[in-house]
Amino acid sequence: MLRRKFIAGNWKMNTNRAEAVALASAIAAKVGGSSPVDVAVCPPSLYLEAVGQAIKNSAVGLGAQNCYHEAKGAFTGEISPQMVRDIGCTYVILGHSERRQIFKESNHDINRKVLAALGAGLTPIVCVGETLDQRQTGKTAAIVREQMEGSLAGFSAEQMLKIVIAYEPVWAIGTGVVATPQQAEEVHADLRRLLESRYNSEVASALRIQYGGSVNAENAASLLSQPNIDGALVGGASLKADGFLAIVAAARPNGPEA
Ligand code: PGA
Repeated sequence: MLRRKFIAGNWKMNTNRAEAVALASAIAAKVGGSSPVDVAVCPPSLYLEAVGQAIKNSAVGLGAQNCYHEAKGAFTGEISPQMVRDIGCTYVILGHSERRQIFKESNHDINRKVLAALGAGLTPIVCVGETLDQRQTGKTAAIVREQMEGSLAGFSAEQMLKIVIAYEPVWAIGTGVVATPQQAEEVHADLRRLLESRYNSEVASALRIQYGGSVNAENAASLLSQPNIDGALVGGASLKADGFLAIVAAARPNGPEA
């Protein structure tokens, strides 16, 4: 199966309103109305509406960086998946390692959020990844499998087909230390084997697995050429239009010049 590549920019807690609109406008202008690669930007929630306006005539999709698992109610400071959808998003990043580490989100919390996001018609981008210590002590496969099984517990094959996974080794996020294409491919291939054994070959071959962690214009092509790497979740390098667009170009099926 040919999986469509998917490049998403995770802006984290960066940009002000004007910068967000300028960055989104520059990306939308270059991507245009149709693209052989799926592209999305995930600005801070406060700027989702403004960024949505800036990309509205383009093929660039909109994503939030988080949401709560309830639809509404007395949850001061939270935003619901329905609100995320209402403001124009099609994607939501869930279980990012910064949420897991800084905000102590558990696999169970993430599982509830993914279920709620699916219920609101969003495509969740579910992140998994090991720390440096876990990698150095040989626990990568066990940790990543445990995060996948925990975060995605109880979902049907049909629900799984609406999810995107992002493998983001914690030691590679924001460090400039990128996983080698072989290191990333090994984990992606293992996750696909897990999907095959837990679900079926359709889910295993259709589900997209992005790589994230210090992806930039220079290293994107070699990562994206791996058979099981279907795109990238880009942090730092998504904050400059040129750098992000170069990663999008590297994901084109016929190469950057096509
Ligand atoms: P980075 O972040 O590209 O800055 O390493 C990736 C991410 O956290 O999604």
